[in-house]
Amino acid sequence: MPEKILIVDDESAPRAALEMLLRREGYEVRDASNGEAALAECAAFRPDLILLDILMPGIDGFEVCRRIKATPETRLTPVVLITGLFETEDRIKGINAGADDFLSKPIDLNELLARTRSLLRLKQYTDELENAEGVLFSLARSIEARDPYTRGHCARLAEMSAQLGGRLGVSGEDIKALRRAGIVHDIGKVAVPDSILLKPGPLTYEEIIQMRKHAAVGESICSPLKTFGIVLPIIRHHHEKYDGSGYPDNLQGKDIPLTARILQLADVFDALTTDRPYKTAIPCETALLMMDAEAERGWWDRELYAAFREMIQEARNHPEEEPSRKSANNTGI
Ligand SMILES: [Fe+2]
Repeated sequence: MPEKILIVDDESAPRAALEMLLRREGYEVRDASNGEAALAECAAFRPDLILLDILMPGIDGFEVCRRIKATPETRLTPVVLITGLFETEDRIKGINAGADDFLSKPIDLNELLARTRSLLRLKQYTDELENAEGVLFSLARSIEARDPYTRGHCARLAEMSAQLGGRLGVSGEDIKALRRAGIVHDIGKVAVPDSILLKPGPLTYEEIIQMRKHAAVGESICSPLKTFGIVLPIIRHHHEKYDGSGYPDNLQGKDIPLTARILQLADVFDALTTDRPYKTAIPCETALLMMDAEAERGWWDRELYAAFREMIQEARNHPEEEPSRKSANNTGI
């Protein structure tokens, strides 16, 4: 299938010239003569590359670029900004808007083709990565779907963890990692048979051992994906305890990665406040009292737990902001 390029320019002559050249090279090309039309084409045509003139009436190229990069479906589509003359200020503005490359008018056609090929190659790699991530997320969702009690757990966990991370001022990268980990943290349960995963009664010692393997198995499932580098420690360590009594590595205190400690609090709280095969949901207040006692016992990082508690209390005072708690989960082990 030919790669798709969108040309955006309010002047018809340069637009037509570029269109002819790129069609001759075998690309599928569409054009737009203003910012609004460009955004509509982005949604409908889903281009692999956008050549975007900056100076246009209405929404200018900077703003179009900013909106493309702010939309989850198009944020990874490369954008080349084109203008008569690039002042340093314009380049900075372009970089801030998320542009991937710049071309000056009059356009050198060989340069245009070389950059087009290089950016399309990059887009292909990104798509492959996205596909691999997509497969992992689908697998995680299929595991969630095996157990009627876990539906919605991953999405709630991703949201709660990211919120707590945000309150604690962790980096944007870590917040992204928390969202991903929220979805895939229990992916290792693919190796746990239904007879254990859905058992309504207490597990035997052997079953507990089997269940506990899910943390390390999950890490190894996700490890081939380079973009999951900072997600892996969260997956591996989301069942460690602050006093060293957790698993799989009996890590203690601040040796447990901060992101794993964040996700873990959300995981435990969600497990307590939703139905399980072996118990019904506990009210939020009671769950917090139980977690208070566990923090006292040394299971949780007390400082972190205080911030988590505050967040949950605030959400209870503003229930419209609280993540949906209509379904449940089985992550107690
Ligand atoms: Fe888990």
